[in-house]
Amino acid sequence: MPIDFYSEFDSPKTVEAIADALRAGGHQVHCVEANDDLPKWFLTHEVDVVFNIAEGLHGAHRESQVPAILESLGIPFTGSGSLTLALALDKAKTKQVLTYEGVPTPCWQLLATSTTPLDSRLRFPLIVKPNGEGSAKGIWRESVVQDAPALRQQVARIHEQYRQEALVEEFIDGTEVTVGILGGQAPEVLPILEIDFSSCQHSGEFFYSWRMKEYQGNAAMGLNPTLHCPARISAEMTARIQEVALRAHHALGCRDLSRTDIRLSADGVPFVLEVNPLPGLDPTESNFPVMTNAAGVSYDALINRLVDLALMRSRLRWASHHLSDIPVQTGDHKPSARTQEPMGGSLGVGQQEDGS
Ligand SMILES: Nc1ncnc2c1ncn2[C@@H]1O[C@H](COP(=O)(O)OP(=O)(O)O)[C@@H](O)[C@H]1O
Ligand SMILES: [Mg+2]
Repeated sequence: MPIDFYSEFDSPKTVEAIADALRAGGHQVHCVEANDDLPKWFLTHEVDVVFNIAEGLHGAHRESQVPAILESLGIPFTGSGSLTLALALDKAKTKQVLTYEGVPTPCWQLLATSTTPLDSRLRFPLIVKPNGEGSAKGIWRESVVQDAPALRQQVARIHEQYRQEALVEEFIDGTEVTVGILGGQAPEVLPILEIDFSSCQHSGEFFYSWRMKEYQGNAAMGLNPTLHCPARISAEMTARIQEVALRAHHALGCRDLSRTDIRLSADGVPFVLEVNPLPGLDPTESNFPVMTNAAGVSYDALINRLVDLALMRSRLRWASHHLSDIPVQTGDHKPSARTQEPMGGSLGVGQQEDGS
């Protein structure tokens, strides 16, 4: 089992912080473990809305599984739907969609076997990552490679340890930013967060490796990047990045919130590395709350805003169903009570893994 096997899971501290924020917002909260018993729980308990932070346990599409269950039961939940969550977990498929939508993303290739020939158009240095992980799992200092032998070594490591295709990408050696988006119909871009790795020379790590994320702030290990929010970039570059991040958010069909990781090339192109529709929400350690905080939105306000967005979406859907002639469901089922007007009150909170 790789050392980073459990890294996606959120700490109980994050779950508690979210539950506390919801209680402060006047809600009654049930914390529900996102394990195999979860479907049964929702069949035997009535809730108005779920604050979804579950990444799921099994398989390549794990983040989409709890949302798919809730969708099938007609229970409103915060954040993106199952399609978006499954898509964003597949970095290469995400890049195909981004490319189709004209969003810049580094040139790449998927290597399914250790002997798959490298596309001669790719230029070193390259970075090798597992195609279907998050939280920098499988990303080490050695993942950035300068030549073919080192590339082969890293590709083999991904295959052996993570049992999946290796995504090989051109390494963009420029400023790293991450861009938060929050809102419903007309979502807004939060102040851009710059992650400056120049203070990490001691470790020789100059990007968000697994060690960098795991030990972030440890100056003795040289894993203490400096965060700047808003980023130290021109107004023109800010506008360019905002536009790219919004396009990425919409291209993947994200709802309520997303966090897009971007690297700026030397000639000022914001290259999207990935989109996180389920960003980490640790109140002190995750990047998304840093950005909402810079926008003047407290942690409690952020959490309750997400619930309001989910409830509003469900009310709009209910209204449009009842105002049009389109049947809510076909077949034998009558619309369940859950698809009708939510009354406010209890909330389910899914146990989570961290999406960053
Ligand atoms: N093509 C790239 N160029 C430069 N840095 C990259 C590239 N791809 C990944 N990285 C670095 O690795 C980190 C993690 O990669 P990312 O694709 O965001 O995976 P994860 O889902 O694990 O966060 C990024 O935040 C960045 O620091
Ligand atoms: Mg990332």
